[in-house]
Amino acid sequence: MQISSKKDIIEILKDDSINEELFSYADSVRKKYVGDEIHLRGLIEFSNYCKNTCKYCGLRCENKNIERYRILEDEILEHAKNAANLGFKTIVLQSGEDNYYTVNRICNIISVIKKLNVALTLSIGEKTFEEYKAYKDAGADRYLIRIETTDENLYSKMHPGMSLENRKRCLRDLKTLGYEVGSGCLVGLPNQSIESLADDILFFKEIGADMIGVGPFIPHPDTPLKDASKGSFFLALKVMAITRILLKDINIPATTAMESIQKDGRIIALQSGANVVMPNVTTTEYRQKYEIYKGKACINENPTKCLGCITNKIKLIGRSVSKDFGSHKKVAKE
Ligand code: 5AD
Ligand code: FES
Repeated sequence: MQISSKKDIIEILKDDSINEELFSYADSVRKKYVGDEIHLRGLIEFSNYCKNTCKYCGLRCENKNIERYRILEDEILEHAKNAANLGFKTIVLQSGEDNYYTVNRICNIISVIKKLNVALTLSIGEKTFEEYKAYKDAGADRYLIRIETTDENLYSKMHPGMSLENRKRCLRDLKTLGYEVGSGCLVGLPNQSIESLADDILFFKEIGADMIGVGPFIPHPDTPLKDASKGSFFLALKVMAITRILLKDINIPATTAMESIQKDGRIIALQSGANVVMPNVTTTEYRQKYEIYKGKACINENPTKCLGCITNKIKLIGRSVSKDFGSHKKVAKE
């Protein structure tokens, strides 16, 4: 399968007759470059407050229908300890953009969690270079910030008060500071073109991403996009598979959004190029409140249940759970 230009990517995205071939080729690239082990990341959703108003997101500050919560420092640590005890080697701290968590507070959380001998990933949004530097100095290893879309026009429609340029600046700063950087995009936003999805994939390559997460857009009833149609699972899977073929050795999660719109979506993704799963390790009481989109998977489960469930499924497809930190190992040439 020949994929070298934007034109090739567009052709593949538009042609559904080659899907099976694409997925199995992406699976073979995954096997060759990152092997059969799957890395699990324990995700702690510690605050659903957000100062932004992204049109698609249920956590947007204009949504008055959600009960807001913050998990405070001590309780975040309890979550992290539980995840480490369950065997997670990476902990991901995710929240809306919530100014309660000052640089000092975040740095304190980072330094106590790092004592648990885990890799630590932050997913807390757009910050300044100085803030990113402070987190890095405190011990953070990785940072996730999806570009969402590289289509400038669509980006500004979807993100009032934000800019694509600043988002790109964040990614550059994180790279400069030596983080392992994760990004990604949404697939199926209203008026999103196939051409722009090809640009998204080329952008991932251009920035030298260490991790790329791709998920279908799923409407949330309390957002301006409540009546928009949902993204296609298979189109999202194709964007993911092409990303695997082009970026070869990076980490690619089978995303929760894929699981949420397609039964066994994560397993299908793991057989089409993905090598990472991010099970939720937030306690049940908070999960319902972190409803980014409607019908989010595992919303009534608990950390032990989710770990057991996904571990079983991984074994059933003949793969195994990794015991190492699962950093991006650069093995591909170019
Ligand atoms: N559908 C699918 N994914 C969404 N996200 C936010 N809102 C939605 C939605 N309605 C994704 C964004 C964000 C990540 C944490 O969740 O891509 O980066
Ligand atoms: Fe949560 Fe399966 S991973 S129930």
